[in-house]
Amino acid sequence: QHRSLRLSVIGTGYLGATHAACMAELGFEVLGLDVDPAKIDALSRGELPFHEPGLSELLVKHVDSGRLRFTTSYQEVGDWADVHFIGVGTPQKAGESAADMRYVDAAVTSLAEHITRDALIVGKSTVPVGTATRLAGLIQDIRAGSGRPGSVELAWNPEFLREGFAVKDTLHPDRLVVGVRSDHAEQVLRQVYAAPLAEATPWISTDFETAELVKVAANAFLATKISFINAFSEITETVGGDITTLADAIGHDPRIGRRFLNAGVGFGGGCLPKDIRALQARVSELGLDRTMAFLNDIDDINLRRRDRVVDLAVQVLAAVRTGRTDSTGPAEVRSHGGTAPTPTPTAVHTLVGTRIAILGVAFKPDSDDVRDSPALDVANRLFTAGADVAVYDPQGNRNAAGRFPRLDYVDSLQEAVTGADLAILLTEWDEFKQMDPAQLAPLMKHPAIIDGRNVLTAQDWIDAGFTHAALGHRFDPGQG
Ligand code: UDX
Repeated sequence: QHRSLRLSVIGTGYLGATHAACMAELGFEVLGLDVDPAKIDALSRGELPFHEPGLSELLVKHVDSGRLRFTTSYQEVGDWADVHFIGVGTPQKAGESAADMRYVDAAVTSLAEHITRDALIVGKSTVPVGTATRLAGLIQDIRAGSGRPGSVELAWNPEFLREGFAVKDTLHPDRLVVGVRSDHAEQVLRQVYAAPLAEATPWISTDFETAELVKVAANAFLATKISFINAFSEITETVGGDITTLADAIGHDPRIGRRFLNAGVGFGGGCLPKDIRALQARVSELGLDRTMAFLNDIDDINLRRRDRVVDLAVQVLAAVRTGRTDSTGPAEVRSHGGTAPTPTPTAVHTLVGTRIAILGVAFKPDSDDVRDSPALDVANRLFTAGADVAVYDPQGNRNAAGRFPRLDYVDSLQEAVTGADLAILLTEWDEFKQMDPAQLAPLMKHPAIIDGRNVLTAQDWIDAGFTHAALGHRFDPGQG
């Protein structure tokens, strides 16, 4: 069905491209804008520059129908659209924790300078609290000086989509949050989201600050849940116990809930790590230095998981070689920001001359995204420490090779494990969950596996002759 509002989406990266295609699917005419002409050319041909289930189909469908178009011209969107969604990135500033606001500021400035009709600008990017109020002032100043026709208002509408479920999360969100300063802005957004609202999606209409904070609070909570269970992994790895059973048991309490309690190599991606750092930076700026200090620990626990995988690799390889664990002790020092620290001589000694198969480098399954990927960080550390590292990911190899070209990227699971002394599962793709240990064992030099996501049944691997170790479990070199 045809909907009368014309929408623009500024920034056609992950968030923007998804939003644009989904809004076209809801029946709107949509114009996507990006400052990168190569991106705009590709999208105009119906080519999606990243992997996301279902999105490519929507893009092709609506580029063909003519409902979805792309441009690099702010003049064009400013003359044409009623509602402008801002979906540009707010990456972590190099060498700092804070978010880099230059893309959001540039997008809002350009819009305010070019709009020639009544329009609503709707921020979707994840921003430090206080940004919307600042941008509203900026818009007012620019409009006062521009002399262009039309009144321009701002609203804030955070986005909660998950990679891998971006289309579903956009078309059927579990809640809609809008920060508005007028009834008019709220009515316009209710019109945009009429379809999900018809499905009784909870609608939270609030002020700018709350809308901005909902997003960072949600991500900080999710990161905390993951690091909470991973902190307990440090205990069970030391004293014994089963981290998965522990998570199941506490998860039965509905106040806690089982989701996001999967212990493993930890969280990565384009959102959680940078968002918790940006939140701390913003809160410190506000003079509340202690308020979010616990997020430092959340971040540290998360990064220590990577050290643990490297330690475990050293232990497993030593056990495979000698039948005992004489190479314990931390192989690495903890680092912020992902650069590989200097490995200890013991680690180098154990890792040099070994071939390690890394199964998965995307930050999570069903994604080709390797931004802040714990798996890729571990692969790089093992390589730096002297191992020969074969990498296989069903979708992530290409992006990973762009970052760490010296790893040996291969096209299949079989190829990765062939001749390997150790396989390490770091992203829980279905293909890896369904691996048959009996088939893989003969391909390897030594059948040994580390389950970095707690998705394999240990006994199956031990029965097939593997030395098996898992995060959140004490490593017993005697088994297998
Ligand atoms: C996240 C939020 O879920 C989403 O609402 C927000 O809009 C953007 O950030 P996303 O980055 O796509 O989405 O990934 P998500 O599925 O949340 O996973 C984040 C990371 O946590 C992944 O690296 C994943 O492997 C890890 N994770 C998740 C765990 O280690 N254990 C869990 O139990 C769950």
